[in-house]
Amino acid sequence: MVKIAPSILSADFAKLGNEIESVKSADYLHIDVMDGIFVPNISIGLPVLESVRKTTDMALDVHLMITSPLRYTARFAQSGADIVVFHVEAQPHDDTVAAIDELRRLGKKAGLSVKPGTPAEVLFPYIDNLDVVLVMTVEPGFGGQEFISAMLPKITQLRRAIDSRGLSCEIEVDGGIDLKTSRLCVEAGANILVSGSEIFRAPDRAERIKELRTGINYTLFR
Ligand code: DX5
Ligand code: ZN
Repeated sequence: MVKIAPSILSADFAKLGNEIESVKSADYLHIDVMDGIFVPNISIGLPVLESVRKTTDMALDVHLMITSPLRYTARFAQSGADIVVFHVEAQPHDDTVAAIDELRRLGKKAGLSVKPGTPAEVLFPYIDNLDVVLVMTVEPGFGGQEFISAMLPKITQLRRAIDSRGLSCEIEVDGGIDLKTSRLCVEAGANILVSGSEIFRAPDRAERIKELRTGINYTLFR
């Protein structure tokens, strides 16, 4: 089944409660955390996550674009995240292992993400212990960018590795996802679609979520 995760980076933060309400038919709410160092932008952090947690029952998918995420994984987990995804490029291997273990201990789902320039193989040592791998299909940092189609083979490579090991790890894609690129990603092997501008700019957000989830020829995950 294809799952949809609207990214609140494209929402109007001055009326965030209403914005969240408008996308509640989705499967996850995607929350982008940026520190201005790992990526050249600063977004939101723990206090906003705590408020969002109080206002919705949606599963919260927190995408940490921060340096040394091990310093903060437990706090994001305790502040209401259901899934915490951080970047493999953001810290040394031992810290990545420790952060995954910590999330497990706290009963949360653990995800690891790769920037466009990072090959799929870098994730292979971790996939047995992950719930999600997140393939960035734009350079992280900003919404509204153009989808990088050269990421499609990376998705397929991960799908093969996950299936050949008999794992249940899900494949999430993030960046430039619209009605056309969503189909390409699902056909390549992804099953969680993050979408910011495509959903928040749609005249009918619930309808767009439905279209992204089921509307087009997804043959693999129906
Ligand atoms: C970008 C963020 C994305 C962003 C996607 O670094 O990780 O989640 O909100 O926005 P769109 O869907 O507009 O490309
Ligand atoms: Zn994101």
